[in-house]
Amino acid sequence: MGAGGRLWLPAAPGPGLGLLPPGARLGAATAAADRQRTGGRAGVSVGRVWKGHRVTSRTASAPLIVGIGGTTRPGSTSERTLVKALAAAEALGARTRLFGGAILTRIPIYDPTTADRSPELQDLLDGVRQADGVIIATPGYHGSVSGVVKNALDALEGVRGDARPYLDGRAVGCIVTADGWQAGGTALASLRTIVHALRGWPTPLGVTFNPSASPLFDAAGELCNVRDGEMLAMLAGQVVGFARMKQALAEPA
Ligand SMILES: Cc1cc2nc3c(=O)[nH]c(=O)nc-3n(C[C@H](O)[C@H](O)[C@H](O)COP(=O)(O)O)c2cc1C
Repeated sequence: MGAGGRLWLPAAPGPGLGLLPPGARLGAATAAADRQRTGGRAGVSVGRVWKGHRVTSRTASAPLIVGIGGTTRPGSTSERTLVKALAAAEALGARTRLFGGAILTRIPIYDPTTADRSPELQDLLDGVRQADGVIIATPGYHGSVSGVVKNALDALEGVRGDARPYLDGRAVGCIVTADGWQAGGTALASLRTIVHALRGWPTPLGVTFNPSASPLFDAAGELCNVRDGEMLAMLAGQVVGFARMKQALAEPA
């Protein structure tokens, strides 16, 4: 709680997405510039669903944000919040790709003595290779990250030898859903520690939800609490903003 007993909440994301001052130039990497170049098509999402992936396509220079997480439980709250965060990233002009519970459970248990090349793992590794930013969502299981999500992250050993190993150079937004506040906090801390080990940059904002304290989604699949959507949008904004900043820095002057 903040001063005066009021709950502290971060400020709403501004034009600088919390990373750059408002009005700062991001070069040709901005969504506005994309739209100008492509005659307004940059914001067009042509999402498709295939075996637990959802892929949207925009212009090549729009950052690709890859989502990893969820469970196979019907109505998985971690997966649904991840989808909302990716939708927020799309609203900011990003492309997105989802690796949800259905595909993560098909990735074999990581074995360091074998180089598993199952199509699901290959897809995940390709997605991470191409990613400009990542959002990970896990349920809190016994105070930490679920085995399915951890297995997917262990399997990123497959990109260890790349020029850009693991999650190197990418901002990573972390989301946890758990039936208790304690597991929300401990699982978030665990996930961020894992992201650090994978050379990723956890975003300043991590988001935890406790669906047992208050309903997260309504019958129509929308978030019940507007503020929850704002938190996910802020997290997505920090991931997309970091990706755009990296793109801008990589552009020739
Ligand atoms: C194996 C297992 C372990 C869990 N451990 C915890 C826990 O330690 N603390 C907690 O608050 N909730 C725990 N939960 C509840 C889940 O974190 C919670 O239901 C979460 O929202 C499930 O995510 P999902 O909706 O994406 O499946 C556990 C659930 C399962 C199935």
